[in-house]
Formats: sequence, C-alpha cells, structure tokens
Amino acid sequence: TNRVFSGVQPTGNLHLGNYLGAISRFAGLQDDYECIYCVVDMHAITVWQEPRELERHIREVTAAYLAAGIDPDSHIVFNQSQVAEHAELAWVLNCVARIGWLNRMTQFKEKAGKNRENASVGLYAYPALMAADILVYRATHVPVGEDQKQHLELTRDVATKFNLDFEESIRALGYEEGFFPLPEPLITGTATRVMSLRDGTKKMSKSDPSDLSRINLTDDADAIAKKIRKARTDPDPLPHEVKGLEARPEAANLVGVYAALAGGTSADVLAEHGGAQFADFKQALIEVAVDKLAPVTGEMNRLMADPGHIDRVLAGGADKARAIAAPIYDEVRRIVGFIRS
Ligand code: TYM
Repeated sequence: TNRVFSGVQPTGNLHLGNYLGAISRFAGLQDDYECIYCVVDMHAITVWQEPRELERHIREVTAAYLAAGIDPDSHIVFNQSQVAEHAELAWVLNCVARIGWLNRMTQFKEKAGKNRENASVGLYAYPALMAADILVYRATHVPVGEDQKQHLELTRDVATKFNLDFEESIRALGYEEGFFPLPEPLITGTATRVMSLRDGTKKMSKSDPSDLSRINLTDDADAIAKKIRKARTDPDPLPHEVKGLEARPEAANLVGVYAALAGGTSADVLAEHGGAQFADFKQALIEVAVDKLAPVTGEMNRLMADPGHIDRVLAGGADKARAIAAPIYDEVRRIVGFIRS
C-alpha cells in the first residue's frame, strides 16, 4: 500500500512557504494515498518553547491542516508526543545512524549556529526522530519542501542500514525485501522553496526576526498587501520567458508564489504578466494571495476558537496512528531482540 506521512513543527509563525511547500499539497494527496499528518511537537522542543505557547501552536498547526482541507475522519491528524512509538523507534534508529551522517546535516549547522557546544542533544538527533516518524508507519511517500530533502536522504540511509544490519532477523520474520521501505520524497510544484520577501537568496522562515520577510497564515488582507508591496524586487519589468528569471531571485520567487497560488506554472504567469512592472504585478499578486489565503485564515480562526474540538481531533488521530505504529514497532522489538513478556 502507498502511505503518506508528513509533519510540521508547531513553533509559531506558520507562513506562506509552509502552506505552499507543504500543507496545501497535503490535502491533494488524500484521494490517492492513506495520509498521516503529524504536528511534530517533540521536534519543536529541540529548541526552547514556552509551554503554554507550544500548546497554542500545536492547535494552530492542527487548525491549518483542517483549514487546508485535510479530512481527519478519512485520514489521520495528530500530534507526535501522543504516540510513544515515535520516541521508542527513534532510540533504536539513534543506534543505527552514525555520528558522521548527522555531522553533515546542514539544518543542524544552521540552527545550532556558532555556539554548537550549547545546542541541545535533541537538535543534533533531530533527523533520527524524523526518520522514526516516517518509518514507524512504514510510509512510502513524504511530501515536503526542498529544505527537508537532506533529512529524507538520511531517512533512506537509516532504513537501508537497519535492513542490512538486521537482515537475518528480518528474514526470520518472513520479510524478503527488507523491513522498512525506502520512502520517496514528494517535492513538487513551483513553491518548494519560497524565499524571504526581504532577500531573495534566503528562504522564508518561521524564525526570521523580520515579520516583513514572510506572509503568516494569520495575516489579514491589509498585512498581506503591505508585505507584498514592500517586498524587495529589482528594477526591471517581468520577463516573458522563464529563463529570464535566472539570476533574478526576487522576481523568480514572486512569480513562483503567484503560480502556486493560482494553480499554474511560472510560464503561465509570465504568459499573462510578462513585460509588467512590479507595481502592477504586485497588485495582481496581492489579489490572488488574499483570495486564496483569506478563507484559510478565516477557517483557522474559527477552529482556534474551539480548542476542545481541536484536542478531540488530535486524540482521535492519535488512537488511529497508534493502531498502525504499535504492531510495526512490536516487530522492531522482535527484530532487534528486545524481550517483551
Ligand atoms: P518545518 O516545520 O520546518 O516545515 C514544515 C514544512 O514546510 C516546508 N517549508 C517550506 N516549503 C517551501 N518554502 C519554504 N520557505 C519552506 N519552509 C518550510 C518544509 O519543507 C516542511 O515540509 N523536519 C520537518 C518536520 C518533520 C517532518 C517529519 C516532515 C518532522 N518529522 C517527517 C516530514 C516527515 C520540519 O522541520 O518542517
């Protein structure tokens, strides 16, 4: 069977990159896959989170999932910490992954910054927990933005090494092709790497100190309009062809965002707006952005007004997730040699 797993960290400031690169695409996979969408609260605490804020942010990501059209009855929406098998498998995978592999993770290097000695151990081990998230469901497909590609390669490496290290034990359980499938990343569309509105060479990020650098999913129409109007651009009009966007990172970004919002390609956008000045193109972008995002924001706000409902969705999702993860982790116990009496 084809099973999708993906996750979003509840660290606040959900933005247009999270929406276009991930969340909005999650909903579109529901007809073709069994989908499991997780709010990865255990990943969030790899850097300090104020406890009461974390609770609010968990509900906010959940609300974004639901507002984007994910159906928690036919699929699964839950928060990671409610399903203990994530942490249990993560420990086993910590013992499979090599220090040398984790040392190469660019996200760790970026997030730890200069003072690496002072980063949490969890931040370092983060990719092994992410591998556990995916593998504990034996998921086959993982929709993410471009920035998660390296973590998915590590997931595949960990799965491969587990399958090899425990080959005999895995065969003894009746698996001929290895225990964990190697998950495929799904990195598709024109917005797999949405860039900062202030600097076309930096990705749009939850942690950028400048709020003008990103469009938050909680922004109202006025804030969206203001941020797009102030977005950095170069002085030239839009090109007529996609290759004219090369070496114009800000222009390429706004065109890609427009295409993703309007549901087309960058070539479609340039066929319509090629030759336009940015003042006019930005006005068109504001219209499509407000048109697409306002209903999502409205629905998120409506859902956030009833935290009890959100918590019930998460509890129901956790029960369904556990029902899949528990038997898989039981087999891991057998494979590894953990006695369970
Ligand atoms: P996170 O919470 O940083 O981001 C959530 C999703 O949004 C995508 N994304 C972007 N896409 C396009 N442009 C951007 N500027 C941009 N910024 C973020 C991310 O690629 C991601 O898909 N490690 C993950 C969470 C995670 C996970 C998993 C994902 C934990 N376990 C298992 C998949 C499978 C993360 O930090 O995402």
